[in-house]
Formats: sequence, C-alpha cells, structure tokens
Amino acid sequence: MTSTEKDTHLQHFRVWRGDDTKGELVDYAVEVNEGEVVLDIIHRLQATEANDLAVRWNCKAGKCGSCSAEINGRPRLLCMTRMNTFEPNEVVTVTPMRTFPVIRDLVCDVSFNYTKAREIPSFHPPEGVEPGEYRMQQVDVERSQEFRKCIECFLCQNTCHVVRDHEENKESFSGPRYLMRQAELDMHPLDAHGNRAAEAQEEHGLGFCNITKCCTEVCPEHIKITDNALIPMKERAVDRKYDPLVWLGNKIFRRPGS
Ligand code: SF4
Ligand code: SF4
Ligand code: FES
Repeated sequence: MTSTEKDTHLQHFRVWRGDDTKGELVDYAVEVNEGEVVLDIIHRLQATEANDLAVRWNCKAGKCGSCSAEINGRPRLLCMTRMNTFEPNEVVTVTPMRTFPVIRDLVCDVSFNYTKAREIPSFHPPEGVEPGEYRMQQVDVERSQEFRKCIECFLCQNTCHVVRDHEENKESFSGPRYLMRQAELDMHPLDAHGNRAAEAQEEHGLGFCNITKCCTEVCPEHIKITDNALIPMKERAVDRKYDPLVWLGNKIFRRPGS
C-alpha cells in the first residue's frame, strides 16, 4: 500500500556521507509528513541529527537544477521526488551523482560540464546581418524551443553510460546535454559557424552515443534528447558525409596537399 498524503511516520533513510577520499552509507530514521519531498527530509536531517550534511539546492521548485542526486539508484531531483511515492516501510537510499567526483556528502564537482560547455563555439551570425535584423520562420523557432527548457541539472550527463563507468571517455565525449546544444545550433537557420553535425561527430564524440535513450528517461524537463536532438544530428552528419555532391565537391575543390 502506498503512503497516503495524511500520514506522518518515521522512515528509514540511508544517506551517503563522506568526501573524495572515503565515505559510507549512514542510517537515519526521519519523520516524514504530508506533502513532503526528499529534499524536505534532507533539510530535517540537517536540522536534527546531521547538522554538517552537505547538499546543494536553491529553488526547491525543479527549476535551478542544483539538487541532482540518486535516490534508490535512480538519478532524480531531490526537490521533485515526493515521499508518497515510497512505501512507508521502504528504505530510501540517497547518494551523490556517480559520474562526477564527490566534494562532500551529496555535493559533487560538476565542472566537467562547464568545461564541455566552453568547448562549443557560440552562435555565429551571418555576415552583414546586425542584431535586430535576424529573421526566422516560426517553425524553426519552435523546433529548438524544447531544448531551451534545459535547467542544466546534469542528470542526463550523469546517466549516460559512455562516461558513467568510463572516466577515460570524458575527454572526448561532450555528453547528451552538450551534444543537444550542438544540435540546437546546427538546426538554427542563421548560424554561419559551419558543419556542426560533422564537428559533433569528429570532435565531441557523437559517435559514442548508441541511442539507448537513458538520458531522455531521466530528464526532469521531459526533453526528448535522443529522438529530437541526437538522432537527427547523427542523420545529418551521415547525410553530409556520404552526400555524392558533397563528395564530388570535396574531390574537385580539394586543395593540393590536403
Ligand atoms: S542516448 Fe546517447 S547520449 Fe543518451 S544516454 Fe544513451 S548513449 Fe548517452
Ligand atoms: S537536458 Fe534535461 S537532464 Fe539534461 S541537463 Fe538539461 S534538464 Fe537536465
Ligand atoms: S532545488 Fe532547484 S531544482 Fe531542486
């Protein structure tokens, strides 16, 4: 039976405590009240028996992307995971995101993501068009609107198996959030940067993605990362590479020695 909203009960929590050198799961029995989310329980723990428990959060409304963690092994936002989705007698285990180094307790060093963000060339406006003169079809505006809902929680980055268990892939793989950003720019009708799909394939590890859709499954904004960004960009990368006209053009116009 699922807990009703009116229940107040003690629940068994296991919370990961430690830093980048050592750590362990610590057991707590914590009061749970009607309408609470997991972040409320973490705050109650801080106020009672674990005053030094570290957790990152800001909005408590699913919008800042700060409170990402793993709850019973599943990547989730602490502030958007309601306690009434667990049985009252269930053990609720809260651990930091696994893909990034732990700073302390539930707080990770997510700077990998900022490094990847900086590697993507920004929007390049066409020659001779000034800001304020950009014109786009509404259909093109709407196409990329979905990707702009991203709250940068990095749950997709944390989940992707290409880096989750393979530290060695981090250097050459941007991860779903930043491949999606490249797809968004590649779809932009005014972006004059060049062939972003080929760049994503050759320099940002698009080829590592085997479209398992795990990133899409954990996205709290329900962005269809794989279907609407990664798969179309993979198709464009292949289309351009094997387009016979592009191939012929490359043959004819290839510079001597290249
Ligand atoms: S679909 Fe691609 S990017 Fe998303 S989790 Fe799977 S391998 Fe990673
Ligand atoms: S795409 Fe979704 S899961 Fe990934 S960082 Fe953005 S909001 Fe989070
Ligand atoms: S605290 Fe902002 S998303 Fe959870």
